[in-house]
This record gives sequence, C-alpha cells and structure tokens, in this order.
Amino acid sequence: MQEQKKVRWGVLGPGKIARKFTEAASRVENATVTAVGSRNEGRAKEFAGYYKIPHFYGSYQALMQSDEVDAIYIATPHSAHHELTLACIENKKAVLCEKAFAMNTKEVKEMVEAAKKAKVFLMEAMWTRFLPHFEHALEIVQSGTLGKVKSIQADFGFKAPEDPESRLYNLALGGGALMDVGLYPIFLVLSVLGKPSEIIAKAAFADTGADTQETIFFGYPEGVQAVTSSSIITDTSIIAQINLEKGRIEICRPWYQPSSLKIYNNRFDYQYENYEVFGQNGYEHEIKEASADILANKVENTKMTHANSLMLMECLDEVRAQIGLKYPNHD
Ligand SMILES: NC(=O)c1ccc[n+]([C@@H]2O[C@H](COP(=O)([O-])OP(=O)(O)OC[C@H]3O[C@@H](n4cnc5c(N)ncnc54)[C@H](OP(=O)(O)O)[C@@H]3O)[C@@H](O)[C@H]2O)c1
Repeated sequence: MQEQKKVRWGVLGPGKIARKFTEAASRVENATVTAVGSRNEGRAKEFAGYYKIPHFYGSYQALMQSDEVDAIYIATPHSAHHELTLACIENKKAVLCEKAFAMNTKEVKEMVEAAKKAKVFLMEAMWTRFLPHFEHALEIVQSGTLGKVKSIQADFGFKAPEDPESRLYNLALGGGALMDVGLYPIFLVLSVLGKPSEIIAKAAFADTGADTQETIFFGYPEGVQAVTSSSIITDTSIIAQINLEKGRIEICRPWYQPSSLKIYNNRFDYQYENYEVFGQNGYEHEIKEASADILANKVENTKMTHANSLMLMECLDEVRAQIGLKYPNHD
C-alpha cells in the first residue's frame, strides 16, 4: 500500500492552543508535527519532549528556516501574527495562522498579498468553519428547505481571570473580548448572511483599556437582522440561533466547538443531531483541510478564503472604530 503523503508542520509559539493543535495533528493522516519553535530553547525542548517531536528550535527564525518543515502553525498572541506570517512566507513556508488573523485590515491585506505573490498557502485557523455540525448548519441554510434567514443571535462569553498582565487584558498583545471571542459569532453571522449593510456596536472596558464585553447589531436588506455578544467577564450561553421563515436552527452550547444541532421545523418539534466525537478535540478538521491544500500546492482554502478573513477583519475594524478601541503599535 502506498504511504499517505504528510505535511510536515512546525509549531510556532508553544502555548495553550499549540498543545491542542499538536494533539489533534497526531490524529490526522496527512499531517505530522516535525518541529517546534519558541523564543526560549528550554520551552521548545520541553514541548518537543512531551509530544515526541523530533526537532526543536530556540528561535522562531530558526524554525522558519528549517528544512524539516513545509508549513508553520502560528500560535502566538494576535499582535505578532502579521509580522510572523510575513516572515514565514519569505521563507517559503505555508502558514496556518491563529485568529485573530492580524490586528487590522491593512495587516491582513499585506499578508494575503505576500502569500499570493510568493505562491505560498495562507489560511486563518478559523477551526469552527470546518466542524461537521457547523458545516451541516450552513448546508441546511443554503438548501432553502427552511426558507430565508430572518435573524441570527449568537454569543460567546466566558469569565477569564482578571489579570491585567494576561494576554486577554493586555492591549499590547491584542487583548480584549472582541479579538479573542467576539470574532466567532461575527464570523458565524458573516458565514450565513455575508457583508452587513449596517453595524452598530457598544462595549464596556477594563482599566487596562481592553474591551470586557460588547453587543453588536448587524443590519441587512429587507429588515434581516443579527445580534452578537461577547464577554471575558461573564459566562454566557454560547448558543447560536439561526431563525428562518419556516423553522430555526439552534447550534447548541458551545456552538463554536464540536457540538450538536436542534433543527426546528415548527415551534416545538425538533430533530437533534450530535456531532461530538470521543477522543477528538475538533482541530483535526482544519488541519486535514489545510494539509490537503498544501499537498495540492494551493494558495488558499475554498471554505476559509482570504476574502472571508478580510471581510471579518473589516467588520472588526468597524466595531473598533465605533467603540474607540485602539491597539498600541498597530493603529
Ligand atoms: N482556535 C482556538 O480555538 C483558539 C483558542 C485559544 C487561542 N487561540 C488563539 O491562539 C493564539 C495564542 O493563544 P494562546 O491562548 O495559546 O496564547 P498563550 O498560551 O498565552 O501564548 C502562546 C505562545 O505565544 C508565544 N509568544 C510570542 N510572543 C509572545 C508575547 N509577547 N507574550 C506572550 N507569549 C508570546 C509564547 O511562546 P514562546 O515564548 O515559548 O515562544 C506563548 O507560549 C491567540 O491569537 C488566540 O486568539 C485560538
């Protein structure tokens, strides 16, 4: 039997999400993690030892220049995504970069232009887009069986430790609810309804200047409306509701992770579909798709396109302009 071709991934920034990626990659047939890079060699060595990764580097530059990797997963705080993506592309490495993809639209445009020019794969690690329950919800909407979408409500809030030094409260690292969790429900709204004709946003702030929560209204032609909310100071329902002419799709808590659907075709009866898979954390799907694209020499993915990332960041810029949220060294 012919051996499956695998993308050799390098993990850049061995923090919390890098662990989930590495665990998931071990379950994906067309991917393998061959190296890890940290700003600190000891941390890279510890991570490599724990996950039995053959190569480790004490600088991001060394990882980008390594012959042992084809692609790099960028898992640092958002403030470094733009600069690191450009550097990976310069070194001809494919890039899967965590959300928030960058700090503003100008940065995303530069990343996309660089990838296109160098013919290097680039994708935002919007893992929810590839989760089977989320894909099925989109399929139901697009099939038209429940009629047109009339409104959407979606939220993502959790109570984070109130530590002004932490990534979530530190503006220099892109801290705040919007860029960490608020972009998920916005992404859902854009996936279903596309670009809004109107956005109205209100937010609250911590002493560090980071946004602690916000509520955002999205207006569309013919009176179609969506409302999203996000928070890092309280646990919210984390349920998404897509309300259509002939029914409703509820993406159950926590809707952005592997979850389940309740598909209502009248007010009370619903069909329940559970998509959680024991032993998987859900990141397997995006890794499999990105790896397949890289093996096929593609520059972008067809589901999470460069245009999708740009539209999302344009909305985030508009929300930030309305609530007066600026990031040092980026705005
Ligand atoms: N897709 C998801 O479900 C998901 C979930 C959580 C987070 N994320 C995203 O993933 C990114 C990382 O989040 P995380 O929670 O994994 O972050 P984290 O654990 O706080 O940091 C990740 C790593 O980034 C490196 N780093 C580089 N510059 C840094 C700086 N100035 N300050 C602190 N660390 C720095 C550090 O590694 P070294 O110093 O060892 O190099 C650190 O371990 C964020 O953009 C976040 O939004 C995505």
